[in-house]
Amino acid sequence: MMNDVDTLRAELLAEVDGAGTLDALEQVRIAALGKKGRLTERMKTLGALDPDARRAAGQALNTVKDAVTMALETRKTALEGTALDARLMQETVDVSLPTRPEAKGLIHPITQTIDELTAIFAEMGFTVAEGPDIETDYYNFEALNFPPDHPARQDHDTFYLTPDANGERKLLRTHTSPVQIRHMQQTPPPIRIIVPGRTYRSDHDATHSPMFHQVEGLVIDKTTHMGHLKGCLIDFCRAFFGIDDLPVRFRPSYFPFTEPSAEVDIGCSRAGGGLTIGAGGDWLEILGSGMVHPNVLRYAGIDPDEYQGFAFGMGIERIAMLKYGIPDLRPFYDSDLRWLKHYGFVPIAQPSVAGGL
Ligand code: PHE
Repeated sequence: MMNDVDTLRAELLAEVDGAGTLDALEQVRIAALGKKGRLTERMKTLGALDPDARRAAGQALNTVKDAVTMALETRKTALEGTALDARLMQETVDVSLPTRPEAKGLIHPITQTIDELTAIFAEMGFTVAEGPDIETDYYNFEALNFPPDHPARQDHDTFYLTPDANGERKLLRTHTSPVQIRHMQQTPPPIRIIVPGRTYRSDHDATHSPMFHQVEGLVIDKTTHMGHLKGCLIDFCRAFFGIDDLPVRFRPSYFPFTEPSAEVDIGCSRAGGGLTIGAGGDWLEILGSGMVHPNVLRYAGIDPDEYQGFAFGMGIERIAMLKYGIPDLRPFYDSDLRWLKHYGFVPIAQPSVAGGL
């Protein structure tokens, strides 16, 4: 009997040691300790023995059971370690492999231009403000000193929305200037903001799109004067086009919301049929500007006897086309991948004044 149990113990332990995988080990466990396992079957025979023999045999079989259970645990731990090692070996990363292909997306010239001009004005202490695309007549015209029947309103080719329940006819803003009023109403001076955003006019041909982008600028303080306007815009033009001696000219103009008003031209050359920005005897208009009209300050709740300042506005597509030699306006909105690939910008090259624009 004892010999018999010793043999069973030796065989079961040998099977445990011989199991090469976790699955095989589970089969060994079932064959030994399962419902119909060899050890279980042996336990069932104990009942037929007389009490003394039963106790002795029972103890012997329990010892075998404990030994086998412990061996199974040990073997299981070892096999799990082996399996993990194998997996780790298989999943190693070969750091000498080439990198993934470069990201394919590019930055649209409009976004790039906004990032560039924002970097320049940020350097001068401006922050970015925004306002809604859907405006009221009050913010788009009236508070900007356009009298009700003023001809300048017609120049704007305004898109009107259908009147709401109160009979109010909202519109798509025709310029970013309404944000001047909104910002002044919310923030006490001193003010130094730029406002990039979408604008809308019912106009569609090779050089006009019904939706386009502008950037507004507004500076309000106690002693801000025309000299600040000129210095600020000359510095901007030279930084944006990257030409230190770029000629900049201020030409008298008219806007209802500024007085005096000036349009800003930059020097260029049209020699040989092309267009080159820089000295060359010709001029190109790129933005509108002026000293904020006292009426506009009053509409915005600012005392014109205490505060004054300047404002400017320019078309983003236009300065992008001039800087990057983009000949046609329409493809800006076509989502044509060939155009985007040609004129797009690499995303990781964040524009900064220090890094060069
Ligand atoms: N809002 C004007 C336009 O759309 C531009 C401008 C802005 C002019 C601010 C003067 C001051 O043409």
